[in-house]
Amino acid sequence: MQKIKKVIIPVGGFGTRFLPATKAQPKEMLPVVDKPVIQYLVEEAVDSGIEHVILVTGRGKRAIEDHFDHAAELESYLESRGKSDLAKEIRKISSMAFFSYVRQKEPKGIGDAVLLGVALTNNEPVAVMSGDDIIDSQIPALKQLINVYKKYGGPVIALKKIPLSEANKYGVIKGKSLGGGVWKIDGVVEKPKPEKAPSDMMVISKYILTPEVFSFLHKTKPAPNGEIYLTEAVDNYIKAGGKMYGYEVKGEWYDCGDKLGYMKAMVNYGIKHPELGEGFKEYLKGFRV
Ligand code: G1P
Repeated sequence: MQKIKKVIIPVGGFGTRFLPATKAQPKEMLPVVDKPVIQYLVEEAVDSGIEHVILVTGRGKRAIEDHFDHAAELESYLESRGKSDLAKEIRKISSMAFFSYVRQKEPKGIGDAVLLGVALTNNEPVAVMSGDDIIDSQIPALKQLINVYKKYGGPVIALKKIPLSEANKYGVIKGKSLGGGVWKIDGVVEKPKPEKAPSDMMVISKYILTPEVFSFLHKTKPAPNGEIYLTEAVDNYIKAGGKMYGYEVKGEWYDCGDKLGYMKAMVNYGIKHPELGEGFKEYLKGFRV
């Protein structure tokens, strides 16, 4: 079985759910306490064994490339002021992994972005992560998926239980539980009406995908809104007899592309922050809600 060494992270979207904050800056660069959202994701990937991070960017996303680049001037400035710990921390960001960038010319959905990333891979299984979803967990969420991939030998989707009333916001699976949080998936529907949802298990856009799935993605046509959905390619792969697994990831999920989800992440990581946590908790105690 091939080791998962590469992750594709689509970060080309406009961030319309977060306007006006995202008018002139990428949503992935919004900070959760003192690190941008995208850094949490890259750290999760690296902690899961990933060596090569492929970011699928677009216009207005240059700040992401700069963030993972060497910042020689800033580092020597910090060194000259005796702040070598901070300089070291800054240097580490650019050396965490090997970074590649490919630009998506128009936001045609996560499926289109993934195909652009696949062009930089070598007919190998890869991880895919959305640039929005941070999962706070003991074992990195991507590593949890890699463990299932290793055990079952097939592609894996991250799953989370949701109230049925929210099914129309997500990809939703049909499948059966194999125990231990693992599911055998029989189909995926993108954003079904709650009354038509096949289950209350939704897709978090975090996957381990194999070249067989990509061959279906190449054939997937855009939906009426112009987006190519990865879930549709996965569904067609399953219909053609492909094996697909799901895993109910352990951890707290924060959708940081959504204003409320982002605010929740800020509180969670604020409370846990080694230097700021105590002061922040004290501050929060003053609120009566
Ligand atoms: C995307 C996917 C959907 C998934 C969701 C959350 O939807 O298409 O399958 O459930 O992310 O990760 P979007 O939020 O881009 O509308």
